[in-house]
Amino acid sequence: MCGIVGILGTDAVAGALVDALRRLEYRGYDSAGVATVENGRLDRRRAEGKLKNLELRLSNQPLQGRTGLGHTRWATHGKPVERNAHPHMNDRVAVVHNGIIENFQELREELTARGHAFQTETDTETVLHLITDCLDQGLVPVAAAKTALRRLKGAFALAIIFAGEDNLMIGARQGPPLAVGHGHGEMYLGSDAIALAPFTDTITYLEDGDCAVLTRETAEIFASDDRKVDRPAIKSVASSLLVDKGNFRHFMAKEIHEQPEVIGHTLGSFVDFAAGQVHLPDLGIDPAQIRKVSISACGTAYFAGMVGKYWLERYARIPVEIDVASEFRYREPPLEKGGLALFITQSGETADTLATLRHCKEQGQRIASIVNVRTSTIARESHVVLPTLAGPEIGVASTKAFTCQLAALACLAIALGRARGTISETEEKVLTHALAEVPRHVSTLLHNEPHYERLAHELSRARDVLYLGRGINFPLALEGALKLKEISYIHAEGYAAGELKHGPIALIDEQVPVIVVAPADELFDKTVSNMQEVAARGGKIILISDASSERAGCALETHIQIPTVHSFVNPLLYAVPVQLIAYHTAVLMGTDVDQPRNLAKSVTVE
Ligand code: AGP
Repeated sequence: MCGIVGILGTDAVAGALVDALRRLEYRGYDSAGVATVENGRLDRRRAEGKLKNLELRLSNQPLQGRTGLGHTRWATHGKPVERNAHPHMNDRVAVVHNGIIENFQELREELTARGHAFQTETDTETVLHLITDCLDQGLVPVAAAKTALRRLKGAFALAIIFAGEDNLMIGARQGPPLAVGHGHGEMYLGSDAIALAPFTDTITYLEDGDCAVLTRETAEIFASDDRKVDRPAIKSVASSLLVDKGNFRHFMAKEIHEQPEVIGHTLGSFVDFAAGQVHLPDLGIDPAQIRKVSISACGTAYFAGMVGKYWLERYARIPVEIDVASEFRYREPPLEKGGLALFITQSGETADTLATLRHCKEQGQRIASIVNVRTSTIARESHVVLPTLAGPEIGVASTKAFTCQLAALACLAIALGRARGTISETEEKVLTHALAEVPRHVSTLLHNEPHYERLAHELSRARDVLYLGRGINFPLALEGALKLKEISYIHAEGYAAGELKHGPIALIDEQVPVIVVAPADELFDKTVSNMQEVAARGGKIILISDASSERAGCALETHIQIPTVHSFVNPLLYAVPVQLIAYHTAVLMGTDVDQPRNLAKSVTVE
C-alpha cells in the first residue's frame, strides 16, 4: 500500500522526506514523489520505480522548502507511471493519498463540468480539484479541506499542503492509518510510526473521520462532526527498533532467522514454563460459555487461523468457523450474541480483516485479535489483544509473524482447553513443555540452508509446484504454496493430500515437483499412498518429514528431515522448511524478495 509522510520542518525537508519514505518501502510501491512550499510557491519532484530514481531527480533539481509531503505509490487507479505518481499538485494545493476514493468518477464528472481539467487517471486527483474548487469559492485552506473531505466516500489517508501557507499541513483519515508526529518546533504526518521514527517517538494516531490541522507548534484534531477532539499522544517503540537487514541479504532472511528468538518471546509472554501453565489476558468471556469461535484473517494469517481451528477443536473442543476476511461478512454467518470472534493479523491494518472485525462487533461478538503491531487499528478496536512479539516484519512475505501467530494460537487452545476441562493439568504440562522446545528445534532447522539452495535449482525450472498436506499440515501446504508463488512468481498450489485423486493428479508429470508436508503421524501412511501415486506418474517428490526416507516407499527427489517432536507443535517446525524453500528459490530466480511485484506488506484497501 501507499506510504505517506509530511513535515513542517525548520530546515529544507526534501531529504528527510525521502529518508522517511525509505522506511516505508516495505509497504511495496512503484513510484514516489515529494512536494514542498518554498517562498509560498509549491514545487514537486516525482519518479517511477525505486526511491533512488527520485533521489537522482532531487540531486539534479533540489527543493529547499521547509514544508513538504512525500509519497510512495502502490498503483490502484492508473498505471504506475510518473504522470500518476503523487503528490498531485497544482499552483494552489498539493495532496498525497493512500486508499481508494470510491465516488471519484461522480466527483470527476462534477468537477470537469465546473471547468477543472484532469491530467491523470487517478482517484486522488479528484481530491486536489475538489479542494481547489472550494478555494475558488473563497474558503480559506482549512475550511476548503474540511468541506472537500465531507464529499469523499471510500478509504483515504490524506496529507495536504497549500501555496502561500508555509506553516500549515492537514491530515485526514478514513480507513488507512495516519499518525501525527510531535517534534520540537516541527510537526509530522506519517502512515505509521516506523516512517516517523527518525524524527520523533511521540505519536498521535488519528481515528476514522479525524482531520488534523497542524502547524509547527500546534496539532488540532477535529472529528467528522467538526468537534475538536483530544487524541492521546503515545510513545512509539518503532524509533528504538533499528529496522535494518543486519548481516542478511534480505529482510525476509533476517526475519526467518529471528524466529527462534521471537517465537520464544511470544511463548514466554503467555507461558509459565516452570509451572507448565498458560496465562492469557482476560478474554472477558467465560470460556465454558463459548459455543463457537469465528476466526477471520487474510493470506498467511488465515492459514495460521486454519491451524488454530485444528488446535481449538482438538484440545478445547470448541466448534470453530473460519473464513477469509473478504468473504466472511458477505456470507452473513449466523453469529450468536456473546460468541468469540478472533482476528489474526500482522499489520493490524488489513482492510478486509478490519471491516470483518467491525461487522462482528456490530453483531455483539466478543472481539479478540492476535496482532503484531500493538498500536494498529485492529488492536485498538479489539476488546482483547493477544500480541505476537515478532518485532517489525519488513519483508512483504510473512514469516516470523506467522510462526508467532501459531505460538499465540497454541497457547489460546491450551488455555481454553484447561478452562473448559477438556485437557488436564498434566496434559497442559506436556503441551507447554513441547512448546518450550520449539525455539531450539526451529534453530536447528535453520542450519541446513545449503540443502535448500540445491533444491531451489530444481524448483526454479518448474512450471507448477504442488504442496500436499493432511490434517493440521494441510494449512502448511497452503502456506508453502503462497510463500513460493508470492516471492518467486512460480505458480504453486496447496492441496489436502486426500484431494489429489479428485483432480490435481492430472497435473503430475516430470515438470511438476510435489512438496509433501507430512510428519510421521497417524495420517502418514495415507500420505505415503499419495506419494506413490505421484511417483508412479513421474512426479518428483520433496518430502518434509521426521519419518525415515524408507517409510516413504518410493523414490524421493529430496527429503528434508525434521526432528520428531510432540505432534502438537509440528506446524511451528514445518513452517520453517516451506519458508526456506520459497526464499532460496526466489533468490535464485532473482526476484525482489522483500518487495515482490504487485504486492504490499499491508493491504489497507478492500
Ligand atoms: C503473506 O506472506 C502475505 N504477505 C499476505 O498474505 C499477508 O499475510 C496478508 O495480506 C495478511 O496481512 P496481515 O497479517 O497484516 O493482516
